Amino acid sequence: MPTFKIFRYNPKSGGPAYFQTYELPEKKGMTVLDGLYHILENIDSTLAFRSSCRQGVCGSCAMHIGGQYRLACETQVVDIGNLVAIRPLSHMKIVRDLVVDLDPFFAKYTEIKPYLIPAGEPPVREFKQSPKERAKLDPYVDCILCAACYSSCPVAGTDEKYLGPQALLKALRYVADSRDGATGERLAYLASDFGAFRCHTIFNCQQVCPKELDPSSAIAKLKMKSLWAKFTGRMRQTG
Ligand code: FES
Repeated sequence: MPTFKIFRYNPKSGGPAYFQTYELPEKKGMTVLDGLYHILENIDSTLAFRSSCRQGVCGSCAMHIGGQYRLACETQVVDIGNLVAIRPLSHMKIVRDLVVDLDPFFAKYTEIKPYLIPAGEPPVREFKQSPKERAKLDPYVDCILCAACYSSCPVAGTDEKYLGPQALLKALRYVADSRDGATGERLAYLASDFGAFRCHTIFNCQQVCPKELDPSSAIAKLKMKSLWAKFTGRMRQTG
């Protein structure tokens, strides 16, 4: 019979944070998210957590489970063991229990301008891209913005200005896109004090990504591209 040990905290109550344990029935194929719903619907309706798609697509159910950041909907209880310790994502304010305020995380994503910027006038027809050019984006497009990498990164936890692994991985997606015309400006921004060079290459982000993406390598590529742009005069400062 699995036991869930869950972080509980309600900042509005003024009380301290604590862990609460719940006994769950044994059920074949039960995910951690199934277990949380079982608690919510049958044991304790005050438990707060986020989820939406329940199939590893929306990224909303990321939390710290059994010692690692994971998606609750993709984590089988049997893979964790009989005691399942769960706490919320790190580096962000706790709204309640397992729900954190993701605004700072999404603000950093917005900072990298996650959209194509044309070199001149916007095209009147669609941008054409060859299969080879499109294939260059494959290592970066599957990010579901779950914030597991961001929470696992000690630099993101100690430097609130640092863009973090998710934003930097996505930034490379636009730098690598043949249709984008703002590479120089992007690289100048990403080479700043809070950008790629702030990464200490700890690799936590690479280990926890539920989509098996590799933000560490993406950041290393951004560093090389920034240096190349700087020494070839292709980096453009803006603002
Ligand atoms: S609920 Fe959407 S990723 Fe888990």
